[in-house]
Amino acid sequence: MNVVNGHAVIEIDKVTKTFGGVVANKDISLKVQEGAITGMIGPNGSGKTTLFNSIVGFHPIDTGSIKFEGNEISKLRVQEIARLGLLRTFQQTRIYGKMNCVQNMLISIPHRKAGLLDIFADHRAEDRERAEHLLEFVGLYEKRWLMGGDLSFGQQKLLEFAMALMNEPSVLMLDEPTAGINPTLINGLIDRLKRANEEFGITLFVIEHNMRVIMNLAEHIYCLAHGELLAEGTPGQIQNDQRVIDAYLGAH
Ligand SMILES: Nc1ncnc2c1ncn2[C@@H]1O[C@H](COP(=O)(O)OP(=O)(O)OP(=O)(O)O)[C@@H](O)[C@H]1O
Ligand SMILES: [Mg+2]
Repeated sequence: MNVVNGHAVIEIDKVTKTFGGVVANKDISLKVQEGAITGMIGPNGSGKTTLFNSIVGFHPIDTGSIKFEGNEISKLRVQEIARLGLLRTFQQTRIYGKMNCVQNMLISIPHRKAGLLDIFADHRAEDRERAEHLLEFVGLYEKRWLMGGDLSFGQQKLLEFAMALMNEPSVLMLDEPTAGINPTLINGLIDRLKRANEEFGITLFVIEHNMRVIMNLAEHIYCLAHGELLAEGTPGQIQNDQRVIDAYLGAH
């Protein structure tokens, strides 16, 4: 079981975000408990990625409040928020295709350390060791000298996950981590997400369309529809919520 002490590490209060005439998020309020795995589901275009983008400072919100560890972060920039220990992965992976896996891991460090890659040899050796350890953790150790661009899409997602871990986030938000991953590899990924949560103590906030995955992973799930919060609850409550079934689960 995950250690949940009842403290909200992310608190979103009445957040609205529009793009021209499109209301992508409307009056959304939700909390992510420290130490927990929290899920977010909802139909395509319901505003899940937009909310992630707002939390990490990718774009400004129109109205509302976003707090991380009790501090307002809605006016901060992406790098400032990343340095606080709040990181995300992308629905479309962002890795460097012309660098090998180890280089991708090393280049990802400045997110947390804020500066140029450390040139001191002893530090590099330590980072290099950690990079290889984390590549082993996600199952990419054998592929560590392959170029990022030569990995399969699923392997690129595993690399992106490892790159995020390299920065030792306190909270990691994952946008559809299992999308495009071979079904036989999905169980391994679920296992690693749980281990990142339990062994490294990383709070996870996960967007997923794969119901088996999210019901297995998350202890609390939010469901968005048409940019609004439709329902929230335990996996059991969400699966039996008629509004969620009508808006989303009926099609899955
Ligand atoms: N940068 C943008 N400019 C204009 N409209 C946008 C932008 N980003 C998102 N939108 C719109 O906001 C709405 C919500 O999109 P969003 O990507 O957040 O949905 P989603 O729930 O992540 O969907 P999916 O499950 O398909 O990933 C959509 O109507 C989308 O077209
Ligand atoms: Mg999305």
